[in-house]
Amino acid sequence: MTVRAVAVGCGAYLPSRVLTNAQLSETLETSDEWIAQRTGIRQRHIAAEGEVTSDMGLAASQQALEMAGIGPEEVDLIVCATSTPDETFPATATRIQARLGSTRGAAFDVQAVCSGFIYALSIADAYIRLGQAQTVLVVGAETFSRILDWTDRSTCVLFGDGAGALLLRGEPGEGTAADRGLLSTHIHSDGRFHDALYVDGGPSLTGTTGHLRMEGKEVFRHAVVRMAEAIDDALEANGLTAGDVDWLVPHQANARIIDAMGRRLALPEDRVVVTVDRHANTSAASIPLALSEAVGDGRIKTGDLLLMEALGGGFTWGSALLRW
Ligand code: ACO
Repeated sequence: MTVRAVAVGCGAYLPSRVLTNAQLSETLETSDEWIAQRTGIRQRHIAAEGEVTSDMGLAASQQALEMAGIGPEEVDLIVCATSTPDETFPATATRIQARLGSTRGAAFDVQAVCSGFIYALSIADAYIRLGQAQTVLVVGAETFSRILDWTDRSTCVLFGDGAGALLLRGEPGEGTAADRGLLSTHIHSDGRFHDALYVDGGPSLTGTTGHLRMEGKEVFRHAVVRMAEAIDDALEANGLTAGDVDWLVPHQANARIIDAMGRRLALPEDRVVVTVDRHANTSAASIPLALSEAVGDGRIKTGDLLLMEALGGGFTWGSALLRW
């Protein structure tokens, strides 16, 4: 008998303001055609003035708890993946904890940029397997609009704001690939690639928040190779093949990267959850947002095998296999 981290609820939040490519092209030398062709992005959601990461994370978390029928007093651990916290400290997770009305357990943030949700899942999985927590809320929440250089067309068109949450609960099982829950997580990083994707500010470096800087082609090249490796890691570790995967729920950075991963798994297009066209890249929030959408509209069903993968600044990257 082993303990598995079983998904019992999920939730999502998107700010109400939508910014289309056409609207962007009114102030920036770009076009809907260029953005859509290179990235698949058509629009993104942008947080309202005064709307912060914890507001969005809270809304997604409340939905996840509601879906599970679990109260905030039962949550042992909150892990919030974010690179755009409300404040330098305390952790955004503690603000979510307070506003949920959860007063026990622990709450902290994890920072792995676009891989943040996979990293947070990995932590939740370990706590649950070790018996140190039974009910863990994993949140991915970002307000990237506040760290973009809105005059840099090569980066500002790519990102959006939003949040997603997944509630996991330890349940006993046989430990086979047929059991519900997280089958495995794999995380990696290689700090030598700092200069390909970073923010040019921070509390100890400049005392300012800074703006996102990126070598797009370099990121693209590594994303395809590293995420393919992470997919192989996940399948091999569980004695599974690509044919066993029901849904690819990838990080939503670029439709061309997502297509490449779908082709690698030989998955039909309608088995790949895509939100990048409407949400753009919401960094750590993109996977739980996509997951919540596909669970909410009934595509993902109990017993389906989901493969999640991401690459982000650092570089960081990883994968997770979850039987829903
Ligand atoms: N509108 C119009 N033209 C643009 C824009 C824009 N928004 N942005 C750049 N261009 C121009 C460039 O200036 C360049 O012009 P030039 O040839 O006159 O110099 C030309 O378009 C080509 O630029 P490239 O950067 O070579 O374009 P590329 O085909 O590499 O596409 C892109 C850029 C979309 C960023 C691509 O490299 C990419 O998707 N990379 C992955 C990056 C990513 O997803 N990052 C997210 C974070 S990490 C992650 O989540 C995986």
